[in-house]
Amino acid sequence: MSKYGPVDLKKAVDYASLKDRNVVVTGGSSGFGKAFVHMFVDNGANVVLADVQDGPGQELEKELASKGAKVKFVHVDVTSFESQVNLVRQSLEFFPRNEIDIFVPCAGILNYPTQINPQDPAALADLKTPPEDLTGRVISVNLAGVWIGTMLVARYGMGLHKAAESSGKTSAPTKTIVLIASLAGYCGAEGSVEYTTSKFGVRGLLRGLRKHLAAVGVRINAVSPFYVDTPMTSFAVPVLKENGIPISTVEHVVEATARLATDEEAYGKTQSSSDARMFANTLRSFDIRHAGRAI
Ligand SMILES: NC(=O)c1ccc[n+]([C@@H]2O[C@H](COP(=O)([O-])OP(=O)(O)OC[C@H]3O[C@@H](n4cnc5c(N)ncnc54)[C@H](O)[C@@H]3O)[C@@H](O)[C@H]2O)c1
Repeated sequence: MSKYGPVDLKKAVDYASLKDRNVVVTGGSSGFGKAFVHMFVDNGANVVLADVQDGPGQELEKELASKGAKVKFVHVDVTSFESQVNLVRQSLEFFPRNEIDIFVPCAGILNYPTQINPQDPAALADLKTPPEDLTGRVISVNLAGVWIGTMLVARYGMGLHKAAESSGKTSAPTKTIVLIASLAGYCGAEGSVEYTTSKFGVRGLLRGLRKHLAAVGVRINAVSPFYVDTPMTSFAVPVLKENGIPISTVEHVVEATARLATDEEAYGKTQSSSDARMFANTLRSFDIRHAGRAI
């Protein structure tokens, strides 16, 4: 299949090729990120898991290290440039070969449903700080955090300067980035405009970067899940089910991530973790505010 053809979903995922690869996963303390950490470690990869939640991340590190895995937890707040620089530096120190092979920027949040909430402009005189729903936090974590992390890893973390210096071809697997986007970045997540904006942005990042990265030998792809039961969405899952909306599984998302991390022919693609056409219709018709909770 050509470099620019669709991902071949009939091909078996090459889990064996993950052995000894150096992988950084942000959002690694919970949900998808935690499941990715398990999958990479189970297949013999060396893993740095990074998150703003220290307790669960350190516990996971302890659990996996006690079974012999080469794994390290690093605290990161992806909204902080310094914190992401520290993550890249600590990862390079920790890994054999001092390079990152696979980067999965998975940290993300879902919060306030959008309210226009019209107000008297006289209130502007007292508006010294943004109202809680206008801080841009979701865009900072889900989009700016992914953009900065991806650029730092590609520029400083993947050893690409060495390839440029030697200009020699190697037979090693390509360096690769797997973005965690969402079908919300295609169909929108009704009721959550900031989340929708952030995920359209991640899709834009994929589109914008893919040829630049391919030119330096790096593959970037994205997984776009639909609603899956994780700590981020657990409040909504019962209502989704009541409305007959199918819930995808973490295993699907893990498999899609493993496929894109290992498929040497996947360049600049998005793989949904479920039947995108069917889910697109339900996603369009469900308003997250129906979950009945201010998130
Ligand atoms: N669960 C779903 O239905 C679903 C669907 C589509 C896409 N996604 C995406 O998958 C990714 C993971 O979500 P999840 O469902 O596993 O949620 P989750 O809440 O279980 O995990 C998200 C992790 O990100 C971490 N995080 C949040 N802010 C951070 C910050 N500033 N710096 C570092 N870490 C931070 C959290 O501490 C948490 O461990 C997100 O990008 C989300 O948008 C989830």
